[in-house]
Amino acid sequence: MNSRELLAVFDEVARTLKMQRRMGVRGFDCGQKAVERLAGWDRGLVQHSESLDAIRADLGQCTRCPLAETRHNIVFGEGNPQARLLFVGEAPGFEEDKSGRPFVGAAGQLLDKIIAAIHLKRNEVYIGNIIKCRPPRNRDPQPDEIHTCFPFLKRQIAAISPEFICAMGRHAAQTLLGTTAPISRLRGRFYEFGGITVLPTYHPAYLLHNPDQKRAVWEDMKRLMEAMGIDHAG
Ligand code: URA
Repeated sequence: MNSRELLAVFDEVARTLKMQRRMGVRGFDCGQKAVERLAGWDRGLVQHSESLDAIRADLGQCTRCPLAETRHNIVFGEGNPQARLLFVGEAPGFEEDKSGRPFVGAAGQLLDKIIAAIHLKRNEVYIGNIIKCRPPRNRDPQPDEIHTCFPFLKRQIAAISPEFICAMGRHAAQTLLGTTAPISRLRGRFYEFGGITVLPTYHPAYLLHNPDQKRAVWEDMKRLMEAMGIDHAG
């Protein structure tokens, strides 16, 4: 084994221990619960030797679904490649399709405020979407589009290995959690995706039309700050 391979082993051990800690394992716990958690560990998700750049290169000028015919730019996602917190939205809109960047339109401005409200900076988190190309007229993503595109987000999640995912809106929450439950029921509670803590909340675009729900999102963000150990006051 050469030194590079040895470093890769250390890296994998460190990631494994980190993942176990996130899954609630404290020390070398061989109890029933820990064993069950480990059995449910999706190694395909957490094993990540590939970089975000490699995933982007593999995506290329994607034509895997018909959205390629109408999109102007693929919106891959952006932010800190080692972010503790990943925000996942639905799909690019008009502004995002034009610029190739996620959440830069009106909903994005609100997301920026949400990020600032939890005492983080946009470049400290990572922002992505369930699908990477704009659906015509901003219609809902179709199941086959999600089916085709979601594997790339899963690989991004594995590469970033965040501790927390904030799933914004119905499509993000339902896709990540594999449920058809309404977002009104899912939001504000913690779930798990491949050992990563997931908090669903309302989508910022929904808040633009339903400002009375901002209070609910703020409650969710306070829970997130608490879980992340971010001081509410500071
Ligand atoms: N809405 C989303 O879900 N994602 C974006 O990138 C922009 C708006």
